[in-house]
Amino acid sequence: MFLLCSEIITPFKLNLKEILKIAKKKLQGVSQTPFLDAEILVGHILKLSRTELVVGDDSEVTEKQKKDILNLIGRRLKNEPIAYLTNQKSFYGLDFYVNENVLIPRPETDILVEEVVRFCMEAGASGVGVLPSGSLVTSKKVPLEKGEVFCKDTGGLKPQALPFNSLNSNQKTPLRKAQDNTFKCLIIDVGTGSGCIPISLAMNLKNLNFMGIDLSEKALEVAKKNIEAFGLKDKIELRKGDLLEGLDLSLQGNEEIIITANLPYVEDSAELEIGVKDYEPHLALFSGEDGLNHYRKLLPQAEKMKPIAIFLEIDPRQVEILQEISQGLFPEYEVEVVKDLTGKERVFVLLK
Ligand SMILES: C[S@@+](CC[C@H](N)C(=O)[O-])C[C@H]1O[C@@H](n2cnc3c(N)ncnc32)[C@H](O)[C@@H]1O
Repeated sequence: MFLLCSEIITPFKLNLKEILKIAKKKLQGVSQTPFLDAEILVGHILKLSRTELVVGDDSEVTEKQKKDILNLIGRRLKNEPIAYLTNQKSFYGLDFYVNENVLIPRPETDILVEEVVRFCMEAGASGVGVLPSGSLVTSKKVPLEKGEVFCKDTGGLKPQALPFNSLNSNQKTPLRKAQDNTFKCLIIDVGTGSGCIPISLAMNLKNLNFMGIDLSEKALEVAKKNIEAFGLKDKIELRKGDLLEGLDLSLQGNEEIIITANLPYVEDSAELEIGVKDYEPHLALFSGEDGLNHYRKLLPQAEKMKPIAIFLEIDPRQVEILQEISQGLFPEYEVEVVKDLTGKERVFVLLK
């Protein structure tokens, strides 16, 4: 018989180890990582790291803590993602505030950030870094020939510490040395959500300006909170907008422009995991029959701005269509397609 969370706890006092045990047991049916989930949720309420929990003593949890832990377990049992339960998600080695109004930042998006950092550094931006993953790059003029994969030459800047995702840290690729540290540009992130892309870029690239655009007012509130938490209010401007429509850059000077976007790219008919489908904002996920409505609209708008580079996160099945669209709009640009760590084509790059 299925027991409600309130029923699984005795009226007696519980200590840390006991409540952790109960949490793990309850989550076993619903989560693929019940032990990890239990440790994160209990640790979140008790404000203890996972290590502190594991070596934790037999101290009693208070009634309030018990109630809060049970509440989170109850929500997790209904498949609510851990990141929404803790209001926290790590991305590019940084901790972001998230809530149900924004997409939970995904590890694949690291690759996009990494490529923009690499591009800006090679163009002469100041900032030092190592890349979090040794991504493979297919680099060719449009059209890209199928099946060709090249490993991009990465040159030899001395790697230095940056807050990158530790999962990937054993695969760091050195960056080429910035030429003269004079590179200036405005990076416009379209569909900024939590702000994870411009914030990660701003934490790694000095002297550049950033703008985050989103259609959702509530997502912009989350981005604002994150920007303030990272002390980047002066570097990242937020605007509400429908892609780049009517964007007035007259006050921004004559800087070069780079466009980044991880816009919705899921087909309307796609069957998503329940935790995604039921909890993440559909405005952040779906984009028409083939998942390309947003990029089809964005690219002609972007073309008018003559950016020096465009970086789009995509579904691998969208490469060919995007190449066709780009051939018409950006005949002079070079196309690169960057694979993620699972070998899937994940970032579509246009370079002037
Ligand atoms: C896939 S999420 C990406 C969020 C964030 N950039 C990330 O990588 O985690 C897409 C974002 O695009 C926003 N969005 C959807 N349609 C939009 C539109 N027409 N104009 C601007 N933003 C839009 C959504 O609100 C959502 O925040």
